[in-house]
Amino acid sequence: MKKIILNNGVEMPIVGLGSYKATNPEETKEAILYALECGYRMIDTAAYYRNEELIGEAIRESGIPREEIFVTSKVWVDAIEKGKVRESFEASLKRLDIGYIDLFLLHWPVNREANIKAWKVLEEIYKEGKVRAIGLSNYKEKHINELLEEAEIKPALDQVELHPDFTQNEIYEFCKEKGIQLGAWSPLGGQKPNSGSLFKDPTLLKLAEKYGKSVAQIIIRWDVQRGIVVIPKSVHKERIKANIEVFDFELSGEDMELISSLNENNRIDQDPDNFMNYWNSKPEEGKNYTV
Ligand SMILES: NC(=O)c1ccc[n+]([C@@H]2O[C@H](COP(=O)([O-])OP(=O)(O)OC[C@H]3O[C@@H](n4cnc5c(N)ncnc54)[C@H](OP(=O)(O)O)[C@@H]3O)[C@@H](O)[C@H]2O)c1
Repeated sequence: MKKIILNNGVEMPIVGLGSYKATNPEETKEAILYALECGYRMIDTAAYYRNEELIGEAIRESGIPREEIFVTSKVWVDAIEKGKVRESFEASLKRLDIGYIDLFLLHWPVNREANIKAWKVLEEIYKEGKVRAIGLSNYKEKHINELLEEAEIKPALDQVELHPDFTQNEIYEFCKEKGIQLGAWSPLGGQKPNSGSLFKDPTLLKLAEKYGKSVAQIIIRWDVQRGIVVIPKSVHKERIKANIEVFDFELSGEDMELISSLNENNRIDQDPDNFMNYWNSKPEEGKNYTV
């Protein structure tokens, strides 16, 4: 498995397993165990996904030494808003029960003051050695710039929505310039009702045929060659296995550009600028993800 090196020297596998909406206990544990068997060494979770216990259990059961597996988790916006980042981190750590978390992220930007306050807590946790790296998710350039004004430790990574029809060129260039690793979520177009169109895209289908690979493999390889950490989610064995088989071929420069040219700024999820409005407009019931 190819690895990238974060700005604090920590190594991170470039392809990992996403786990959003993987909550069925048997299916999820089986998926994680199978992924580890196939060679995955990075798993993406979050307090919000409500599956940290299952992931921790699968990791412990796998028998693979803890230090060989890279686990990312994230603190949800309610904890950031309420100033409960430390409590939420401790709760994630307890649920995972794997000793430490490799990478801990602020899940979405909330507001300048809350973001900075939350970042200061992540810095403390990092200094205490409870996480190997700290970073962000869904932060745009302006959010990162605001944070950098006050930060002592530079974020290691920013995980954002990114797929061939939403290539995120601005944040890609910005992160490169700042020495912050970019990560792609919903790399295959996600799990929304309007997802799935990339699998029918004629250009991607043609490339899949040309390289003798699936559309998913073409997309994941495109991320890898752009140097982006990518976390496709699946709970199906054949897909889990195939999604990591992307290191035995190389897309030509021309084909890389062709894929990037599919960009239509087609965001499928919330714009981070509107996220808190969206979140606050949802009914209160079942919204507490803090602990
Ligand atoms: N930081 C954030 O705010 C944020 C937001 C969203 C997601 N994420 C993270 O990013 C991960 C990936 O994003 P995502 O789950 O939204 O979407 P995704 O990985 O782009 O797509 C997952 C969907 O594609 C299907 N799929 C997977 N491999 C396939 C293949 N080879 N062929 C056909 N279909 C395939 C999956 O179905 P099956 O599972 O049924 O196989 C699932 O429905 C998440 O799981 C989560 O860990 C982070």
